[in-house]
Formats: sequence, C-alpha cells, structure tokens
Amino acid sequence: MNIPSASLGLAIIAALSTTPSWAEETMPPLAASKGCVACHDIATKKVGPSYRDVAQKYAGQKDAVAKLTQKVLDGGSGVWGQVAMPPNKAMGVSPADAKQLVTWILSLKTPTANKK
Ligand code: HEC
Repeated sequence: MNIPSASLGLAIIAALSTTPSWAEETMPPLAASKGCVACHDIATKKVGPSYRDVAQKYAGQKDAVAKLTQKVLDGGSGVWGQVAMPPNKAMGVSPADAKQLVTWILSLKTPTANKK
C-alpha cells in the first residue's frame, strides 16, 4: 500500500539512467512546476525553441550554462525570433532552479550535436 518514496525515487533514477536512446528523455518535474513546459517541449518548437534545439545550438560552448541561466532568469528575445521569453525570476524561479534546468537542457542528446 505505502510505496516508500525513496524506492520510487530510485525507480525513476534507474529508469532515467537506463534510457536507451535520446528519443525517450522526459521533462523533469521542475520544468513542469516552474511553468517552462507552457512554452517549451523537448523535441518540438512551441512558443519558445525546443530544448533539443537549444542543446544543439550551445553544444561545446563553455559559458553556455552561465549565459543561459541569466537569460532564463531575466528573459529576453532575439536569439530564436521576435517572441520574448518573460523574466522567469518573476515567476518564482531561483538562480539555482534556473541553473539546474539549463544544465539539464544542455545535457540533452541531439541527433547532430553529439555526433562528433
Ligand atoms: C511564456 C513563454 C515562455 C516560458 C514560460 C519560458 N520560456 Fe524559455 N523561451 C521562450 C522564448 C520565446 C524563447 C526564445 C527567446 C529568444 O529568441 O531570445 C525562449 C528561450 C529559452 C532558452 C534559450 C535562450 C537563448 O538565448 O538561446 C532557454 C534555455 C529557455 N528558454 C529555458 C526556459 C526555462 C528553463 C523556462 C522555465 C523556468 C522557460 N524557458 C520558460 C519562451 C518561454
């Protein structure tokens, strides 16, 4: 009846780490709870770019985490088009949240970016 949350967590970690291909990566709960999913999907462009496109664009750029963390917090436009991302820090996204999300986004495998 009571599934201990620790084993649930382990099951999730196991599921993630055995993910066989890039096609099966899933949005982390933080992205849902912080509202990112309203405008972003992993593989499909919505209001904002797909996270796989972001990962591909910044692949290999050392300062990408710092730069994109700031962008997520402050919002802005002009990189992917005229539509602006609103400042997510106004929506309760902390710098640590933003960094965690950006680190995850940049870790996404893309068909081309990881083919080196
Ligand atoms: C209201 C819609 C909206 C929400 C909510 C939103 N974004 Fe965005 N996001 C955008 C748009 C539009 C862009 C493209 C901005 C541009 O062209 O410079 C973008 C761009 C980005 C980029 C790439 C930035 C760049 O300069 O290349 C990242 C990373 C990102 N978003 C992460 C997030 C995260 C993480 C969250 C949740 C905390 C989030 N977004 C919430 C609309 C949104």
